[in-house]
Amino acid sequence: MDYQRYIAEKIKEFVDMNLSDIERLIEIPPNADMGDYAFPCFKLSKAIKKAPNMIAADLKTKIKTNGFEKIETIGPYLNFFIDKYIFVKTVLNEILAEGDSYGSSKIGAGKNIVVQYSSPNIARPFHVGHLFATTIGNSLYKMLSFEGYNCVRINHLEDSGTQFGKLIAAYKMGWADESKLEKEPINELLRIYVKFHEEAEKHPEYEDAARKYFKLLENGEEEEIKLWTRFKDSSLKEFNKIYTRLKVEFDSYAGESFYSDKLDAVVNEIAEKSLLTESNGAKAVMLKEYNMAPCIIKKTDGATTYATRDLAAAVYRKKTYDFYKNIYVIGSTQVLHFKQIFTTLKLMGKDWAEDCIHVDFGPVKFTDKKLSTRKGDVIFLDDLLNEAVQKTLEVINDKSPDLENKETVAEKIGIGAVIFNYLKNNREDDIVFDLKEVLSFDGETGPYVQYTYARGKSVLRKAGNIPQNVDFTRLTEVEEFELVKQLAAFKEYILNSIEKYEPSIVTRYIIDLAKAFNKFYNLHSVLNADDIDLKNAIIRLVEGACQVIKNGLNLLGVDIVEKM
Ligand code: ARG
Repeated sequence: MDYQRYIAEKIKEFVDMNLSDIERLIEIPPNADMGDYAFPCFKLSKAIKKAPNMIAADLKTKIKTNGFEKIETIGPYLNFFIDKYIFVKTVLNEILAEGDSYGSSKIGAGKNIVVQYSSPNIARPFHVGHLFATTIGNSLYKMLSFEGYNCVRINHLEDSGTQFGKLIAAYKMGWADESKLEKEPINELLRIYVKFHEEAEKHPEYEDAARKYFKLLENGEEEEIKLWTRFKDSSLKEFNKIYTRLKVEFDSYAGESFYSDKLDAVVNEIAEKSLLTESNGAKAVMLKEYNMAPCIIKKTDGATTYATRDLAAAVYRKKTYDFYKNIYVIGSTQVLHFKQIFTTLKLMGKDWAEDCIHVDFGPVKFTDKKLSTRKGDVIFLDDLLNEAVQKTLEVINDKSPDLENKETVAEKIGIGAVIFNYLKNNREDDIVFDLKEVLSFDGETGPYVQYTYARGKSVLRKAGNIPQNVDFTRLTEVEEFELVKQLAAFKEYILNSIEKYEPSIVTRYIIDLAKAFNKFYNLHSVLNADDIDLKNAIIRLVEGACQVIKNGLNLLGVDIVEKM
């Protein structure tokens, strides 16, 4: 039951104000003595021409509600005290009935959403920034499809661009070690790419060679295409290992090169709409009146740009998927680029430009090293994941040496911890990654939440079968009620997360839920109650809490473990 909405409906019977305005005024009082919801009457006093406290007193006598223990006034406030018994029963029965789909408001039916995420660069390492894009995108995808949206997951691989000219040049100079290129292609490609940059400083003519090869590649020359395909396939094989580990999937891998044959059409359309201007020998869409640099469509040498490809991609996505929203999960270094793209689309008359959204995120700082591919100063993702899993395994070996499937559990906890850490902060804040903190079992971490879940599951295993009908009036403790309130709030947090494209809202909710669970858990020696009715009611509450933690972690792309 949506209490806020219900209260608003009841108030509306007596006041002339629209429902959503009333609903927005309803507050959650800071302490339980003031009820569960409060409606301030100040806003009404002008229209009704009465003092707010008089209005409150008047409404109190008029409003008739179900599901509330009492309504009281405190000065100008109308305070609603919900009937805790009905509330607890309704919430827990709803969770148990809906199970894995509890929390969905099903707002997305019949609407398509494109979510582009991960999008690493071929022949370059998948780094911690890409992992951020991957975890945010995957979580948004999970939440949107949980709400019933029909989602298309796109991995927009950066598999085109001048860096391929450089790689081909480096390869043709014989710098690559063939056996290494087989065994660890990305490392080897990175090595020759870095070497190219170093050497090109001494030999500027190398840059010319790189440009030449890039042009040949764009023209579809067999030899260049063959090398490019080899670099691409071997990179993808490595990326897929990471995706398998993270349990992340895509519906399409259409990246930069996919749009090669769709660029002319978009360039022509821009020209036809008289938007294409000469700018220092290049061709561009001028965006001065929007306070932006020109959006370059063709460079001085006639080559298309990153922006041209993104324009073609957006047009293609609209045509192919008829999206309601087109989401790009990409770091904040590209804020200007996407503003230019969306503005250009608008100038082209695409009213759907407003449905294109850049979900950006701040840079990832690994302790204090900023990550850069060019200098070869990179933290490899595999190393990070391996270390997280290894350290978790050490803790398990120390604390529960007899646990079954220790390696599998460590993998789920270690990787879950990394994902959780990415998602727990506001995506626009810098995140500093301190592995020790990330893996801790008693901070605001993935392992803490997973441990809370496993604790609950262990109670349920010991309890065996629980009767369907239990007496919820037995749950009278504040901690119990607070926990149920948290469980009931899940839906709102998901909707909020989606509205702001901010998975941290659900992540922080799960942390608070786990905290509420642990407060409740510490209250009772759960299974030792000799009062069987109380025990059954408690167990139902544990069951409800476990279900919501599970559903929540699932929305983040974090696995649960039944035992740890
Ligand atoms: N490959 C880029 C990177 O590593 C992100 C892809 C951007 N996507 C796009 N449609 N422009 O930062």
